[in-house]
Amino acid sequence: MLRRLYPDQPESFAFTQSNLAWAEAQITKYPEGREASAVIPLLWRAQEQEGWLTRPAIEHVADMLGMPYMRALEVASFYFMFQLQPVGNVAHIQVCGTTTCMICGAEDLIAVCREKIASKPHQLSEDGKFSWEEVECLGACANAPMAQIGKDYYEDLTAGGFAAMLEDMAAGNVPVSGPQNGRYAAEPSGGLTSLKEYEGGKADYNGSVQRAVDVGDTIKRIDGTEVPLNVSFQAGVNHGRDIEPPVLKTQKLQKSANNPAASKPAGPQVAAIEDAGAMPEALDGPRGGQADDLKQIKGIGPKLETLCNSLGFYHFDQIAAWTEQEAAWVDQNLTGFKGRVTRDGWVSQAKTLASGAETEFASRVKSGDVYD
Ligand code: FES
Repeated sequence: MLRRLYPDQPESFAFTQSNLAWAEAQITKYPEGREASAVIPLLWRAQEQEGWLTRPAIEHVADMLGMPYMRALEVASFYFMFQLQPVGNVAHIQVCGTTTCMICGAEDLIAVCREKIASKPHQLSEDGKFSWEEVECLGACANAPMAQIGKDYYEDLTAGGFAAMLEDMAAGNVPVSGPQNGRYAAEPSGGLTSLKEYEGGKADYNGSVQRAVDVGDTIKRIDGTEVPLNVSFQAGVNHGRDIEPPVLKTQKLQKSANNPAASKPAGPQVAAIEDAGAMPEALDGPRGGQADDLKQIKGIGPKLETLCNSLGFYHFDQIAAWTEQEAAWVDQNLTGFKGRVTRDGWVSQAKTLASGAETEFASRVKSGDVYD
């Protein structure tokens, strides 16, 4: 495939304050005179910020690293992970089309992309929300067929489930990543045949998914208002609370002509997360001694159900009645699972379940398809 710059380019590019701090921190990893080694992470962050790599972004990164524009363009045009044309403003879908996925149904997933997004790869859907492409093996063959969406893998897909997932994303929701057929990770579909002793005590999700869920990872792009994970890691604190912003090498940046970010003051990059919301009404115990099966709410596993119960929440109608403020309070107080109420849309799911109706996920839970 010919990879060229998109004909319609924006006027300029500047990193957000937070992304600029992140980019500056990357450059410090390399010795003096070797700053160009940071080209891939900086181009990647520029793409994360804008969705695709524009010519001004490539030139901006080249300026920051003291590289000829052509050298940065060579990198951007060589690696397929860099998108040189606009992508969907909700998500760019990368469907694996290599052997295992192809045998297991990748062509059906691609047919869904053609029908629901655009007839050709790298074209925007009519509403501008999605774009798609076929990619080579993404290394999740044991969970074929699969697609990478945003930073996460969605595995064990079916055409119907995938189409529903796109609709869910278009509506502003973020389905939990990982296997979509109830598998925990890459174990046999009939369940574990060995190492069964490790089954007890495992987290709600496998390691990758649990991490994505714990940090509130979404298909939303990094726009600089969130805490870059590696900055929080460098600062030695968890998820960015009270992070001291890294010192910017503004002097060096000022050498770069036409760099609007260089003249900006280095303000605070990360706002402390404040306590929010109001505690919803809690119960001392389940009404009539019988709690609802909160695990029927997608996103609540056995551990979260126990946590909810310990906070005094036992019933669908309790969760259904949470106001925005109350949901924010619960989000803040789910130790180890912060942000899950909003992320997984508990309130709207609970409303459905409290009304006596059933969601597709709840019926899978009831049929024993999800939990043992
Ligand atoms: S063949 Fe699709 S992930 Fe490997």
